[in-house]
Amino acid sequence: MRILGIETSCDETAISLISAEGTFGKDFSYKVEGESLISQSSLHAPYGGVFPNLAKREHGRNLTPLLMETLKRANALVENQPSADEKTIAEVGKMLERETELFAFLADFFRSYGKPDIDAIAVTTGPGLEPALWVGINFAKAISHVWNVPIIPVNHMEGHILIAALGESNLRQFHVPALALLVSGGHTELVLMKEWMQYKLLGETRDDAAGEAFDKCARLLELGYPGGPEISRLAQAARNQNLPKAAALPRPMIHTNDLDFSFAGLKTAVRRQVEGKKLTDDEKKILAREIEDAITEVLVTKTKAAAETSGARTIVVSGGVSANQHLRNQCEQQLESEGFVILFPTPDLSTDNARMIALAGYFHAINEKYTLPQNIIAKGNLRLGAESV
Ligand code: KG4
Ligand code: ZN
Repeated sequence: MRILGIETSCDETAISLISAEGTFGKDFSYKVEGESLISQSSLHAPYGGVFPNLAKREHGRNLTPLLMETLKRANALVENQPSADEKTIAEVGKMLERETELFAFLADFFRSYGKPDIDAIAVTTGPGLEPALWVGINFAKAISHVWNVPIIPVNHMEGHILIAALGESNLRQFHVPALALLVSGGHTELVLMKEWMQYKLLGETRDDAAGEAFDKCARLLELGYPGGPEISRLAQAARNQNLPKAAALPRPMIHTNDLDFSFAGLKTAVRRQVEGKKLTDDEKKILAREIEDAITEVLVTKTKAAAETSGARTIVVSGGVSANQHLRNQCEQQLESEGFVILFPTPDLSTDNARMIALAGYFHAINEKYTLPQNIIAKGNLRLGAESV
């Protein structure tokens, strides 16, 4: 089965075409036919975070060129054969009334290229920034209409879990029940996968997400956006140079009896330390290390607590923050030593991508979980294990 995955929930525009076969635990395998991604992070950098309407505009500009690129890479671009007549293109124009730029690109595409060999379209419907999600959804609806291909709505967080579970060397080690620590710019969640693709939300952040804490602290240290990789680079330099340790920052909620998180206090504590001061490069490195240590310690401690009570032996750590090397090392040191199997996506697939959406889409497609286009809407606050897509 060939699935086209579309991801626009935040500041990455991404498209992936995979072919997959088999079922989980038996004979599952997949191949990436082609994919492409544009990160908008440098455009959002001046705002220190993602600016929703800018993200929406950029997705509208990026999607069609990325579709072309993906199909070219997959040898699936059907040239000199229009997909649609002018009447159908006018129908698409109506569907994309509010997305004029997206429509202009797509109309040209449909006039030049034919329907590629795909069986279904998987698109992120949430969680994420609603204006950004809508662009991807409307794009999916337009190509579904013209090519007569069904759509599968996908929960972005499920994508983050499955990309870690289904990685080449991870696939044979992943067993349910499994625990997932999902850490990104918008989310910090502990989710239990009781049975394959059946979820229960165990805990989540009450305020800022872990990635958001990295980003906000980085801003206070006058570092670039996204802040996670910047803090991580400075923290590593502090360790390599054997710089002294900073005064301890709080580890919010680390010993509470629930599995929730809170990172807003960390940012406030950092603000208090830096306000009105001009930090030297070494002082920034020292503080960056303490920020990384504090966030990591909370994440690892809570994950361990969740794993011990959930009965899961497999732990998946995914989402943008899982690219963090220190977090990876600490998870391995503290959780593998307790007998848990820890699985990460490769760092390039830790952050947002469309392969994870195509993969999740495949597993819903084999159960025929298609949704009529008119019923597909963006759900900015969609929660895994709490409601369906
Ligand atoms: O999953 P993702 O790409 O997008 C969202 O769905 O939010 O995650 C982006 C987040 C950002 O907050 C970024 O600072 C953080 O992941 N991040 C990192 C690292 N790489 C990305 N945080 C810590 N260390 C990293 N190496
Ligand atoms: Zn994400």
